[in-house]
Amino acid sequence: MARLSFFLIFLLLTDSFAASGALAGQYEGVASCAGSTCHGRNEGDGKVVRQDELRIWQESSSKSGAHSRAFAVLSSPRGARIAADLGLGNATAATACLGCHSTLARDGQRGARYRAADGVGCESCHGPSSGWLSSHYAVPASHASNVANGLVPLEKAQARASVCLDCHFGSDKPGQFVTHSMMAAGHPRVSFELDLFSALQQHHNFDDDYKRRKGTTDSVQMWAVGQAQAVQRSARLFAQARYGNTGIFPELYFFDCHSCHRAISDNPGASRTFETNPGRPTTFGYPPYNDENIIMLSAVARVLAPGQADRFDQASRNFHAAMAQGRPQAVAAAEKLHTAAGALSDEMAGRGYPDDTAFTVIRTIAGSAIRSRFTDYAGSSQAVMAIDTLLNALVREGRVTLGAAAGIRANINRAYAAVRSPQQYDSAAYRAALSKAAQSIEALR
Ligand code: HEC
Ligand code: HEC
Ligand code: HEC
Ligand code: HEC
Repeated sequence: MARLSFFLIFLLLTDSFAASGALAGQYEGVASCAGSTCHGRNEGDGKVVRQDELRIWQESSSKSGAHSRAFAVLSSPRGARIAADLGLGNATAATACLGCHSTLARDGQRGARYRAADGVGCESCHGPSSGWLSSHYAVPASHASNVANGLVPLEKAQARASVCLDCHFGSDKPGQFVTHSMMAAGHPRVSFELDLFSALQQHHNFDDDYKRRKGTTDSVQMWAVGQAQAVQRSARLFAQARYGNTGIFPELYFFDCHSCHRAISDNPGASRTFETNPGRPTTFGYPPYNDENIIMLSAVARVLAPGQADRFDQASRNFHAAMAQGRPQAVAAAEKLHTAAGALSDEMAGRGYPDDTAFTVIRTIAGSAIRSRFTDYAGSSQAVMAIDTLLNALVREGRVTLGAAAGIRANINRAYAAVRSPQQYDSAAYRAALSKAAQSIEALR
């Protein structure tokens, strides 16, 4: 029964993806968007949208231009070496790499101007444009009519999270999964937070006109739904045999990297390098599942969906415990975790929040119940990104002045410094820095 409902959810997700147009339609290529009267202006002075989106997407010196470089990095020395070591030949022709480093299009979906070399092009996120390209700027067109013609409604937290996570976590579409083998061959770790990364690549003005057409973007909601969908995505992929396993081992991508990648010592006086963690009961010395998004979701559930918080915590504890029992038990528990995270995602996406929510979430993340769960690097990095995002939201909402935010930057930077390198990560020092940063933000309330 649990298995059945899991697959139903999976089908529903796939369906809504198809309905959003991302599986139908043709990809017409960046050149089709880049005209000088379209999105290729030099100045962001367009009447409705900036119209210099291409320039921002191509910005060579900043993260906002990362997607236009995604194909080129495949032929960098690092990209070439990863592919060579894995026996994939030329990375720029390898499906295993192109799924995320170019616009993923199936055979028959590539329009005349589609180029893999565009990297992660406009349509990777906004959806294949054949259904709306020629009509989306015409006068009778509305956002609703564009969406009906296949434009992806990226202003909606669930739709956006689903698009980004395909590449910034992984998906079951062709070539969208980074295995531990790829990482062992030199691929960087994949780290993501929806609201922060959205801001880093932002190429639109969040002005009155935008709000009128698409509504207000709520950072807290964006962040929270991003966490819920990351948990769902992880649980769903793990539960599929072809992603969950390699050979006799589970796929190591899903685990806390540093539980294995640590120095050991035979010295009888050596102190232990790991801490037990109340949020993830498992067999002593067993590699824990990477729970960075689970911890965040657990924190935010207490604030935004308290009625569901215990159920989610129970599902996540059961999942961690089941990992040490066997694959069938772990898969069954992953399905329950997926369902619990999905229920949270729906509840959080379905409503707005009072103005001081960001304060409460920050306090909860750094509070004693959640803080004790920061025993490893990935969870700790995710929490600093959360505090950073939530502080930015407070500034944007005018609840904290820019000057006051600058004053607490030093504390946040200390927390970032504590997760700068996994080799130097010290959980006790990190928890102290996190708590200091949260206190300084709370003091502004
Ligand atoms: C699931 C999506 C995904 C797949 C599959 C994937 N990558 Fe990546 N890759 C990423 C993301 C996301 C980043 C950026 C990581 C970050 O900085 O957060 C990245 C970063 C990189 C970088 C570092 C780029 C830089 O700016 O330094 C290289 C090189 C790279 N990938 C090569 C490859 C190769 C070669 C393959 C195929 C073997 C591959 N990738 C498969 C998503 C993917
Ligand atoms: C990595 C994903 C991604 C890529 C790649 C991308 N965009 Fe966007 N874009 C977004 C998101 C997210 C938003 C903000 C949400 C929204 O309004 O759709 C946005 C907003 C926009 C807007 C403003 C929409 C409005 O209603 O005001 C335009 C125009 C736009 N993008 C055009 C482009 C063009 C042109 C390209 C390629 C040169 C591009 N985008 C590439 C994600 C992306
Ligand atoms: C088709 C795959 C794909 C999709 C979809 C995608 N990205 Fe990316 N993204 C990448 C790859 C690959 C890189 C790394 C490219 C590089 O290093 O040059 C990247 C890099 C980034 C970076 C720069 C990170 C850094 O530390 O340098 C940001 C920010 C980012 N993406 C945000 C987003 C957001 C937000 C979304 C969803 C709206 C999104 N991406 C959707 C593949 C994708
Ligand atoms: C269950 C244990 C385990 C987990 C969890 C794990 N790894 Fe590994 N990793 C290994 C083993 C075993 C090797 C192969 C080492 C060897 O051949 O000596 C390896 C190799 C590597 C290497 C190459 C190291 C070298 O010496 O060149 C990298 C990089 C790497 N892993 C990254 C990661 C990342 C990133 C994660 C988390 C997403 C991760 N690992 C999770 C066990 C693990």
